[in-house]
Amino acid sequence: MLDNINILITRKEIEDRTKELAREIEKDFKGKDLVCIGLLKGSVLFLCDLVKEIQLPLQIDFMSVSSYGIETISKGVVKILKDTDLDIKDKDILIVEDIIDTGITLDYVKNLIRIKGAKSVKCASLLDKPERRKVNIEADYIGFKVPDKFVIGYGLDYDQLYRNLPYIGTIE
Ligand code: IMP
Ligand code: MG
Repeated sequence: MLDNINILITRKEIEDRTKELAREIEKDFKGKDLVCIGLLKGSVLFLCDLVKEIQLPLQIDFMSVSSYGIETISKGVVKILKDTDLDIKDKDILIVEDIIDTGITLDYVKNLIRIKGAKSVKCASLLDKPERRKVNIEADYIGFKVPDKFVIGYGLDYDQLYRNLPYIGTIE
């Protein structure tokens, strides 16, 4: 099952970059009311490793959204499967994502969090696939830019498999 995978980003590269991102986040969120909101399920591995590196008081929450991108129209349809549990009014939110692809999910979730009265909303995404963007949106903290290929591992799945791989790869 694993011999047809090309490793794109190694476990060590992810570890090192996560530490760098944590330092940036610490600098920007010092003295703020930080709530990290992971988008299920893809961000779970990244969120776990990232929050362990952030030396600040913070809260953790999760949301689950599914995006049905419809190729022929410019905007996909996003559905909330699980909303936040915490009261995020006046909090400084860091959305934690696995990958920004079309940008539709991030755009939707950011707006939703703003409507709930958050003081600020930023996003940390492990990966960025800028070539596929349909909405003009960027993450504030990006681990790695990846080419326009389907990637798996470290949270990202193909048909719900491969999330447990400790690296990012492509399937042949
Ligand atoms: P967006 O709304 O198009 O930006 O979609 C982002 C979501 O699509 C991510 O959170 C992933 O769950 C999924 N996704 C996009 N590209 C890939 C990929 O290459 N591999 C696995 N999942 C992906
Ligand atoms: Mg996702």
